Amino acid sequence: MAAFRAPAVVMSRQILVTSALPYANGSIHLGHLVEYIQTDIWVRFQKLSGNDCHYVCADDTHGTAIMLRAEKEGITPEALIDGVWREHTADFADFHVGFDHYYSTHSDENRVLASKIYLSLKDAGLIETRTIAQLFDPVKNLFLADRFIKGVCPKCHTADQYGDNCEACGATYAPTDLINPVSTISGAAPVVKDSEHHFFKLGDCEAFLAEWTKSGTLQPEAANKMQEWFASGLSNWDISRDAPYFGFEIPDAPGKYFYVWLDAPVGYMASFARYAADRNLDFDAWWGADSKTELVHFIGKDILYFHALFWPAMLKFSGYRTPTAVYAHGFLTVNGQKMSKSRGTFITARSYIDAGLNPEWLRYYFAAKLNGSMEDIDLNLDDFTARVNSDLVGKLVNIASRTAGFIHKHFEGRLAQDLANVELVQAFQRGAPAIAEHYEARDYARALREIMALADRANEYIAEEKPWELSKQPESMDRLHEVCTIALNCFRLLTLYLKPVLPKLAAEVETFLGIAPLIWRDADSLILRQPINEYSHLMTRIDPKAIDAMIDANKQHLEPTPAAAPARHAEAQAHATSPAAAVPAAETISIDDFAKIDLRIARIAEASHVEGADKLLRLTLDLGELGTRQVFAGIKSAYAPETLVGRYTVMVANLAPRKMKFGMSEGMVLAASHPVGHKGDAPGLFILSPDSGAQPGMKVK
Ligand code: 2FM
Ligand code: ZN
Repeated sequence: MAAFRAPAVVMSRQILVTSALPYANGSIHLGHLVEYIQTDIWVRFQKLSGNDCHYVCADDTHGTAIMLRAEKEGITPEALIDGVWREHTADFADFHVGFDHYYSTHSDENRVLASKIYLSLKDAGLIETRTIAQLFDPVKNLFLADRFIKGVCPKCHTADQYGDNCEACGATYAPTDLINPVSTISGAAPVVKDSEHHFFKLGDCEAFLAEWTKSGTLQPEAANKMQEWFASGLSNWDISRDAPYFGFEIPDAPGKYFYVWLDAPVGYMASFARYAADRNLDFDAWWGADSKTELVHFIGKDILYFHALFWPAMLKFSGYRTPTAVYAHGFLTVNGQKMSKSRGTFITARSYIDAGLNPEWLRYYFAAKLNGSMEDIDLNLDDFTARVNSDLVGKLVNIASRTAGFIHKHFEGRLAQDLANVELVQAFQRGAPAIAEHYEARDYARALREIMALADRANEYIAEEKPWELSKQPESMDRLHEVCTIALNCFRLLTLYLKPVLPKLAAEVETFLGIAPLIWRDADSLILRQPINEYSHLMTRIDPKAIDAMIDANKQHLEPTPAAAPARHAEAQAHATSPAAAVPAAETISIDDFAKIDLRIARIAEASHVEGADKLLRLTLDLGELGTRQVFAGIKSAYAPETLVGRYTVMVANLAPRKMKFGMSEGMVLAASHPVGHKGDAPGLFILSPDSGAQPGMKVK
């Protein structure tokens, strides 16, 4: 057998890899998946390369937002986070994100480790206490984080601004500076109240951090960012929150809790601690100050501050090892724009699966876009369809589908004994080291370019050799056997090279070829003589209708209020409690903008439940001379359909019709809802009604 031999792997590395812990207060969406897919590809590549690599993660479960959401749903925070854990783990499994352990920050291990780290920092003189004045909600009896306070901007006097900055003029201020502040939780006017807080003295860690930054742990863009932070001075970090708070009580401070961001990264250690205990791994060998292993964190660029400043300083001064690498990625945009609920591009992982889309298509597309930098990446849905159809179906599986049949038809399902010409296969084998380097450097885009260039060569070879013509010439049988064997060897190598990205497809190819699970060193060998199984189709093309259905399904999540939300934001904890909580302050519009909205009085002629919809009612609205309209309204939680029939309300009559799963929606009924985070006994939705005398079809202005 003639084969190119790659240099032998010298020594296996020991690598512990993490992805950022998703909050347990919301669903996994495609923005999250960029990171988990990026990490998973890297981990799979390390494992295929023979490294001792472990991938751990957990749900990030603490904080006010989770406490309030549980209260709103009338369940305990523990019950809430259990349910979300199950949802998250199912989503990750469906996208083939292969954690070795997926835990929760609400665990005994995390409580013990967080407390131990805190007490060590305190022993090292790095914790101080200080009394600070904060806004307090006298109705809910809790201190209000900036994002739970709204009021009039002290600078430009725009109403409805959050407690930390004004979206109209960009001013930043203390929440106590807001004019007429209100708690977004209860609607009450907050009062100023003093409270003692615990601070981590980050400023004292500057010399260490300055040195650590130079150690090559960070991407160049991140190291530059660090320099900016050093230049503006490192402030001490407030790590305590007052009760009520869902989290861990600080050991020596009753009624004070660790701020969620203190115990979140400790969750990496805690997840590993539990995993190590279950497998007899030596925790200290991985986390001790003189550990020889690698610790690699994948994160989004928005949480760099936590991972490049607080986290290494916490580890260092509590006697643990520091990270070997922190790799930050950019945000996801969809069709060139920030993900948006109103456009249906805030796409949940579940809705992608439910639309019948193959998770490996997304893995492939994200991989084709990721280059190891902090740049944002765009999911252009037309490009997604075109690229997956062209690369995976048109180029990759085509190689097998055009050649495997001949092996069964003419050669009893066995590959050829020998190859007269191994040039092409050797060229494929020579590709392995460079492709490996690109995976290692997280430049998956480049790895895939090289792999697809090889796929092109295999297709050119098949096109030149024309096995379908050889098969008609009895004297060309040996040639046909060789051509198909070469093509299938190329296919096997392409499958290996793509295995970090397409693990399920790779497993199916392994079954088809009757081979053991491929590992990176298998690039050295060829398959000859052996029997293969009958080819059955390995991958279908993307049907654009499935994408349309997915977008529609995500538009439905929004009833009743459209919202834009950040892909993944450091403050998400505070303001991503529910879709409504993510609504930014309304922009001002001109009178002309307002005039474009055709508001009409409507009589609800019919109202009924919609099978399969949790929140929707189907309404037939009578607009008098303007005819009738069918509208799907997200008001099921507040109204029984029979109570609505005959009522008059107000609708937006010129909203572009929307195709929903259940039919066309031809407008929108106006309804009021409580402010962000409201918890009360009354239903949260109130449809608007005109005074008596108003007639169907009348214009509202
Ligand atoms: O930004 C977020 O979604 C956080 N839940 C990430 C935490 S990562 C780690 F530090 F725990
Ligand atoms: Zn302002």
